[in-house]
Amino acid sequence: MPGRTSLTVVLAAGEGTRMRSSMPKVLHPVAGQSLLAHVLGAAPKGAGAALAVVIGPGHEPVADETKRLRPDAVAFIQHERLGTAHAVLAARDAIARGADDLLVAFGDTPLISAATFERLRAPLKDGAALAVLGFRAADPTGYGRLLVEGDQLVAIREQADASAEERAIKLSNAGVMAFDGRTALEVIEKIGNANSKGEYYLSDAVAIVRQLGLKAVVIETSEDEVRGINTKAQLAEAEQVMQTRLRKAALDAGVTMIAPETVYLAADTTFGSDVTIEPFVVIGRGVSIADGAVIHSFSHVVQASIGKKASVGPYARLRPGTSLGAGARIGNFVEIKAATLEAGVKVNHLSYVGDAHVGANANIGAGTITCNYDGFDKHRTDIGSGAFVGSNSSLVAPVKIGSGAYIGSGSVITRDVPDDALAVERSEQANREGGAKRYREMKTRDRKPKGG
Ligand code: UD1
Ligand code: MG
Repeated sequence: MPGRTSLTVVLAAGEGTRMRSSMPKVLHPVAGQSLLAHVLGAAPKGAGAALAVVIGPGHEPVADETKRLRPDAVAFIQHERLGTAHAVLAARDAIARGADDLLVAFGDTPLISAATFERLRAPLKDGAALAVLGFRAADPTGYGRLLVEGDQLVAIREQADASAEERAIKLSNAGVMAFDGRTALEVIEKIGNANSKGEYYLSDAVAIVRQLGLKAVVIETSEDEVRGINTKAQLAEAEQVMQTRLRKAALDAGVTMIAPETVYLAADTTFGSDVTIEPFVVIGRGVSIADGAVIHSFSHVVQASIGKKASVGPYARLRPGTSLGAGARIGNFVEIKAATLEAGVKVNHLSYVGDAHVGANANIGAGTITCNYDGFDKHRTDIGSGAFVGSNSSLVAPVKIGSGAYIGSGSVITRDVPDDALAVERSEQANREGGAKRYREMKTRDRKPKGG
């Protein structure tokens, strides 16, 4: 919102016990990014937009994730879990700085968009003291219900405190709110805990705003945008919603997908033009796919950059740190890790290339392995441009294969190979004339051969 400063407080102190996981709830991933990353990604950013995250005691990994995503954010610890209003006040120091708008969002509600945050702020400009994000829940059980009179919101009733009549209301509290910064602290500090759970409910802010003679309003959104995640089943549902969005965005951007419902994307996947992704491809975080590249079926790609017109798979695995140049070809049952393959490199079948650099147009034969690990340390393999590595070669790192060098099939290469050299490391072949015939005769002398 131009001209208005904001502070977004993201509540993320939840234990997440219903996730049945030792990991803090907000660090669970949807589309390759933590729940927290999605919320922080949608929160207002740029000049005049401050951010605070309220975390649970001992949840340093949440503080670390916050810093990674938004170095300008401040983490506050809520030492006791006494309710959502209590959690907001953990960030009192940040709130007291007095931004024009105070936004409160939940770290376990990852599908919210930046546009919705802006929609929620709009009524503040027009004089509302509080705008609450609401949605019509298919099943509102467990949500706070929004009590509305005319165009004004008069109260939010939590499930545990609601009458039968109030429980029939479908319009529910999404948990995201925007306060006018001038009255926010006064309102939140007035919230008490006289309710059936003895918790400080942020939802009581509405009634207090009314008592002060100020105005509260509802801004509605779809249920899909505000799904809160408390269980692994809800995490999986959110993943489906997010995947549907990402597939649609990819199709709209011109990506060809024959069966988009079988393709898994990450929130940060980037595509050039004329990219094709065949069915049953899984793309994890940190992947960029340049113009004209094709990812064939059953490939798994994470933290990799795929060059123009490159071809990957079917059945390829690109692990973190893979960079493929233009026109590179990675075929079936090939695994690449922490390796740069320059333009035109071919690794067409059954190979492992890890901790390596492969120069332009090199050809890596079927079954080639870079032996990068000696049981203690990882070592690098450097293959020059235009080199030809014969099938079933083992390149024992650290080792360098020169440009234009040629490795005979089946070699175990332990020493550097100069440019344009031919290296063959295997025992000499012995042909015994008539040997096969003699062998057969010996085996059949006393018995009939088995099988057909
Ligand atoms: C809350 C709302 C409810 C709304 C629903 C939407 C309140 C009292 N109720 O209920 O009206 O319909 O969300 O999903 O606000 N948290 C803390 N510290 C606390 C308590 C909570 O950080 O002491 C955080 C949680 O980590 C979570 C968020 O606040 O991210 C919401 O808490 P949760 O316990 O999930 O509230 P709900 O019962 O879902
Ligand atoms: Mg919740």
